[in-house]
Amino acid sequence: NKNLFFTNDIEESIDKAGIIFIAVNTPTKTKGEGKGMAADLTNIEKCARLIAKSSSSNKIIVEKSTAPVGTGKKIKSVLNSENSKIKFQIVSNPEFLAEGTAINDLMNPDRVLIGGEESEEGDKAVNTIANIYREWLPENKIILTNLWSSELSKLASNAFLAQRISSINSLSALCEKSGADIDEVSSAVGMDSRIGDKFLKVSIGFGGSCFKKDILNLVYLCRHYSLDEVAEYWLQILKINDFQKTRFSENVINELDNNVKNKIISILGWAFKKDTNDSRESGAIDISANLLTAGASLNIYDPMVSKSSIINDLTELWRTQEVDENIIQSRLKRVKLSNNIDESLYNSSCICVLTEWDEFFNYNWEKTKNRPEIIFDGRNFLDTNKLKIIFKKVISLGK
Ligand code: UDX
Repeated sequence: NKNLFFTNDIEESIDKAGIIFIAVNTPTKTKGEGKGMAADLTNIEKCARLIAKSSSSNKIIVEKSTAPVGTGKKIKSVLNSENSKIKFQIVSNPEFLAEGTAINDLMNPDRVLIGGEESEEGDKAVNTIANIYREWLPENKIILTNLWSSELSKLASNAFLAQRISSINSLSALCEKSGADIDEVSSAVGMDSRIGDKFLKVSIGFGGSCFKKDILNLVYLCRHYSLDEVAEYWLQILKINDFQKTRFSENVINELDNNVKNKIISILGWAFKKDTNDSRESGAIDISANLLTAGASLNIYDPMVSKSSIINDLTELWRTQEVDENIIQSRLKRVKLSNNIDESLYNSSCICVLTEWDEFFNYNWEKTKNRPEIIFDGRNFLDTNKLKIIFKKVISLGK
C-alpha cells in the first residue's frame, strides 16, 4: 500500500494533484511596509503563482502555513488573476504541531481546524479535507469554520500559549521580591480546572519560530484595523518575554559583584527547548549577548545545536541591532564553544543552565573538580536540594 512518493518535478505534481497543501515558511518581514511585524508572504505568493501556472484541472488549495487573517483571500486572488480558467477552492487548515512531538500531535491532536469559503463549493472543499482526517479522528475533534475564523484561531492559540508563559514569568519577578515561590504559585493556580496546569512553567522566556512571529502578526493586524488598545495588550506579552531575559542576565551580573569582565560564565543549553537543535528566538541568544556585551567570556555547550549556529545566532542578533562589525568580532573572541559539560565548566565563575536537557538534569555535578560556586537554573528543572549540597549558591527563577 505504498502511498508516499517524493519528487522534484513540481509542475507535474501540481497538475496531477486534486489537493495541494501550501506549507512554506512565512517569516517576519525584514523590509517594506510592516517591517519587523507583518508576515512575509512572498513564499506563499510564489506557490500560488506556480500552482496557477501548472494547473489544468480544478483544485483545492490548503493553507497550512501560519499566515495572517486574509491570506486565503489573497491566495485566491493570485490564483484567479493568473489562471481564470480553473476553479480553485481555498481551505485553511492550520498547523498545531510542536517541535519534538510532531508525529504524536498529528496522530492525537486536541482538534483539527478546517476553514473554508461560505458557499456550496466551499463546504464541499472543507468536507473533502475533513474526510482525510476522519480516517483516524472522531468527528468531535474536527472543527469546521469559515476561512477567517480558522486563520485567526491559529494566531490566537499561539498568543494564548505565550500569554500563559509571560503571565507566570511576570509573577516570577514578583515572587523574587515578595518571598513567594513561583513553582508553588504555578501549581496552585494550575490546579484550578478552569485554568489547567499546562504552559505554566517558569522559564528564561519562550523561544521558537512561532510565538513571537505570530504575536507580531496579531499586533500588526490589530493596528491595521485601528485597534490600538488590543494591539498593545498582545504586545505586552513580548515585552514581558524580553524583560525576563534581561532580568536573568542582570541577576547573573549582580551575583558576580556587578563585574563580569575577565570572568568566564558557563552557558549550558542553546536550543529554545530540549530535544531539538533549533535555536530560533532562543532565550540563550539574548542572555549570552547581554553577558558578552557586559564584558564576560562564555563557555557555551549544547548537546545538539551546532557551533556554527551559535556563532551565527549571536552575529545576526548584533547585526540587526546595527552593532559595529569590529565590536561584534571582538565580542565573539570571548566565546568558547565547548564539547561537553565538563569542558564548559573549566575556570568558570558561574553556570547558567538555559535549556532543560535531560543531560543536564542527569549530570553528576559532584564529580566535577572545576565547578564554580554558583549555578543558575533558568528552567527550574534541576534537583535543587541535591545541588544545594554541592554548590554554595543555587539560584532558581521566582524564588
Ligand atoms: C509551538 C506551539 O506549541 C505549537 O502548537 C505551534 O504549532 C508551534 O509553536 P513549539 O514552538 O515547537 O510549538 O514549542 P513549545 O513546546 O510550544 O514551546 C515554545 C517555547 O515556550 C519554548 O521555548 C518553551 O521552553 C517555552 N515554554 C513552554 C515555557 O517557557 N514554559 C512552558 O510552560 C511551556
